[in-house]
Amino acid sequence: MNQPICRISGQPLTKVLDFGQQPLGNGFLPPEHFISEYFYPMEMGFSEKSMMLQLIEQPAPEKMFHEHYAFYSSTSRFMERHFGEFSHQVMQSKYLAKADPFVVELGCNDGIMLKHFAQASIRHLGIEPSRNVAEVANVNGVRTLSEFFNENVAEKIVREEGQADAFLAANVMCHIPDIQGVVKGIRTLLKPTGVVMFEDPYLGDVIEKISYDQIYDEHVFLFSAHSIQYLFGLHGMVLIDVQPQKTHGGSMRYVLAHADAYPVSDAVTKLLLKEQDLGLHLLPTFEAFSKKVEQSRADLVSLLCNLKSQGKRIAGYGATSKSTTILNYCGVGPDLIEYISDTTPIKQGKFTPGMHIPVKPYEAFKTNPPDYAVLFAWNHAEEIMANEKAFMDAGGKWIVHVPKVQVLG
Ligand code: TYD
Repeated sequence: MNQPICRISGQPLTKVLDFGQQPLGNGFLPPEHFISEYFYPMEMGFSEKSMMLQLIEQPAPEKMFHEHYAFYSSTSRFMERHFGEFSHQVMQSKYLAKADPFVVELGCNDGIMLKHFAQASIRHLGIEPSRNVAEVANVNGVRTLSEFFNENVAEKIVREEGQADAFLAANVMCHIPDIQGVVKGIRTLLKPTGVVMFEDPYLGDVIEKISYDQIYDEHVFLFSAHSIQYLFGLHGMVLIDVQPQKTHGGSMRYVLAHADAYPVSDAVTKLLLKEQDLGLHLLPTFEAFSKKVEQSRADLVSLLCNLKSQGKRIAGYGATSKSTTILNYCGVGPDLIEYISDTTPIKQGKFTPGMHIPVKPYEAFKTNPPDYAVLFAWNHAEEIMANEKAFMDAGGKWIVHVPKVQVLG
């Protein structure tokens, strides 16, 4: 195979993580599609030049984001609240012009964030490549284009609607292999005083929590302040603020602007120093991480096999994309996990990608709870634990793998 190349620096990538053949993280499927299921080698590479951890190979975007895409943002109350807060922070910020501000969101999904701007009568535009999801946003009163964003789309928006005050994205930027095209588009789209504010799962949390399940086909990059500063720096933009978030098991919100538009906050300086302590800019950090991931797999498989040999019933809670990486990397199928319950109707009645564990509605968990539930939606632990007192009171126990494999409850 040819030497893989970093999408940011153009330098050779060093392979640092290998998860073997993996299916699509969100590719929940009916049995008639098992035979034609798509797999690809899931490996991560790192470049010390760009400091960007990235998938070496990624399935074509059309395979992942299409009319059957199974992810809707508005499935969690916590996420609803989070995006309400994010939008109000933007509305109250100094970055929006007083007169007729214009806000663009990339990957607006079903409108979970932009609806707040729509409700406040702020001029907005969502850009969402999944057509079915974009239709839901439009029905929710959020004006949405179904396109893949790039410089041409940015130019078209500027021609028709003018430049934007704020360009927002949540859990989107890390999905885009041609991120350079997106950054060029952002530079074109933003006013001289405009800002881009986006958040994604944070590499520092992944390394500290050994949450390797953040790695799947859709997450082509895992960002740090170092890699974001390098990437946007190539296009004349500067990281001016960072704000850690609890979402997705630990995310970072990055704020960037055209060079010299705003001062750089202390939070940026502090985070860069912390990342240097963690070694997020250096290759050996990922080689050490790879060993920890292997240990996590060994611990989880041995726990599940032990419980099963004691005759315990085990189910999963939350058919997350993240769980696809764990199940396939650990080789855990329906012999160990009876079913996974999930509240998303489009996933119910289907089977998990690769390992083919049945996905059942939440009612299955409620009426026929297992002895142990693997908390695949661990990023929603607070909300779920609060809702599942009855399960725990009846002796039900949780299995979590972050920050280490353990039984709770
Ligand atoms: P999400 O957090 O988006 O994870 P990923 O990005 O890895 O897919 O998905 C959470 C999933 O868990 C989603 O399918 C809905 C489901 N879920 C439940 O079934 N019950 C719950 O109480 C919560 C909060 C989520």
